[in-house]
Amino acid sequence: MRPCAPEGGEARPGPPKPALPTDREPTLWERKLAEEPGHSQWYIDRFRRMAAEGADLVGEARLIDAMVPRGARILDAGCGPGRLGGHLHRQGHTVVGVDVDPALIEAAQADHPGPTWLVGDLAHLDLPARGVTEPFDVAVAAGNVMVFAAPSTRVEVLRRMAAHLTPTGRIVVGFHTDRDYPVPQLRRDLVEAGLTEDLLLATWDLRPYRDDSDFVVAVMSRAGGAPGSS
Ligand SMILES: C[S@@+](CC[C@H](N)C(=O)[O-])C[C@H]1O[C@@H](n2cnc3c(N)ncnc32)[C@H](O)[C@@H]1O
Repeated sequence: MRPCAPEGGEARPGPPKPALPTDREPTLWERKLAEEPGHSQWYIDRFRRMAAEGADLVGEARLIDAMVPRGARILDAGCGPGRLGGHLHRQGHTVVGVDVDPALIEAAQADHPGPTWLVGDLAHLDLPARGVTEPFDVAVAAGNVMVFAAPSTRVEVLRRMAAHLTPTGRIVVGFHTDRDYPVPQLRRDLVEAGLTEDLLLATWDLRPYRDDSDFVVAVMSRAGGAPGSS
């Protein structure tokens, strides 16, 4: 737990509790922030500290970089403070990052200038309406994004990501399997979203997925792929 005041000190008022949205199902991340308003800043500070210490924070992005041509278009879905999209931008890709948490988008803009960083809910993703018209070669939702999405919207999140891909584009999601989103449910959801399961891994460095793996990396593509492709 993160104390609000130095030990023994007087409790200082923390940041105000953000209101939950009423026009859509709140994500589990937003529900957490409503309970724990300092969580976004804690998350930002944690990654800034690890970056300053020289930690390797881009393993997921290296896999994505290996999957796409040079100068690809990449959607960093649930981008948080931008560690992955920032790296992919520095590799020469065109990156659009979307996250529902405005504080994390602000941190991404400050720490990783270059990509287009947007506040938005993936379950309602409509980038052409926001002036982003070109489709993506890959959409990546790393770092438990699918776990933090509102459970009732997970199929729609996959569907909306798929709708923003090129015909041969792919979606990659990674999350811990001990949360409330079991892998069999992901497998049903991706089919419902019109996707094909290409590959399940247990790690971002390509260890094979097994039924007792505590993490999953799922690579999916649009069912049918490009016209004429087999
Ligand atoms: C643990 S953070 C991971 C952030 C980033 N992908 C990373 O790996 O550093 C999970 C993120 O998912 C985002 N998220 C969850 N559901 C979302 C949704 N429906 N739309 C947009 N962002 C979402 C949260 O706002 C949060 O920033």
